[in-house]
Amino acid sequence: MIRLGVNIDHVATVRNARGGTHPDPVDAALLAAQHGADGITAHLREDRRHIRDEDMIRLRRELTVPLNFEMAATDEMVAMACELRPHACCLVPERREEVTTEGGLDVLGQQADLQARIARLREAGIRVSLFIDPVPAQIEASARVGGQVVELHTGAYAHDPEDAEFRRLYEGALAAETHGLELHAGHGLTFDNVGRVAGLPGLRELNIGHFLIGEAILVGLPGAISRMKREIATGAVFRAVER
Ligand code: PXP
Repeated sequence: MIRLGVNIDHVATVRNARGGTHPDPVDAALLAAQHGADGITAHLREDRRHIRDEDMIRLRRELTVPLNFEMAATDEMVAMACELRPHACCLVPERREEVTTEGGLDVLGQQADLQARIARLREAGIRVSLFIDPVPAQIEASARVGGQVVELHTGAYAHDPEDAEFRRLYEGALAAETHGLELHAGHGLTFDNVGRVAGLPGLRELNIGHFLIGEAILVGLPGAISRMKREIATGAVFRAVER
C-alpha cells in the first residue's frame, strides 16, 4: 500500500493571511488523519511564512498518525527536530525568495555537513528522508550520507508530463532500490498526474499539499483525500498489471 502524507502548510498560509488563528492547521491535520491521511507533513520554513513553531509542537502532541517534519538542513532545525522527535524529517533545500521548494537538495555538494546532521537526527530516533531530483548521483550520495529514504521531486514531471521526465523518475526509483533507500515522491501532484507516479516501482509514500488543500476549498478535505487515495490505488494497480 502506498501511504498518503497530507501537507497542511497552506492551511497555515490562509490563517496567516489575516493574522489570526483560523483556519487552524492542527485541526486540518486531525481531520485529514480521521479521513484517510496516513501521515501529516508540515514544513517549518526559516522565515515561518506558513507553519510556525507552536504548530509543530501541537502537531507532535496531538497527532496519532506519523508526523513528517519538513525542514532545511540547518543547525537550528536539526536542534528543533531532535527536541520534538517527530516520526520523520524530510530535508529540503530552502531559499527565502522561492515560492515553494523549487528543486531537490544538492546532496553531492554538501556531503560532510549532511552526514553529521543526519547522524544527529538518526541518533534521536528520527527517520531521515532527503528530497532530491531524480538524478542517480544524488540518490547514491543520499545513501552514502546516511539517508534512509529519498523523496523524488516530481515537480518537473507535474509541470511537463512528458515521457522523458517520467523516465527520470522511473530510473530514480530503480536507483533508490539498488541503494537500499525507501522511495517517496511528491510536489505538484494532482488527481490527473498522481496515477502514473503511484506506479513507480517500490514507491511507499506520496506527499501532497497544495492541490489537496485547494481542492478542499471546493469539495472539503475528506472528499479531496478520499478521491486522491482512489487515484493513487488505481494508478498503483494499473502499473502492477502492466508490468
Ligand atoms: N514534498 C516536499 C518535500 C515538498 O517540499 C512539498 C512542498 O511543500 C511537497 C512534497 C508537496 O508539494 P505540493 O504542495 O506541490 O503538493
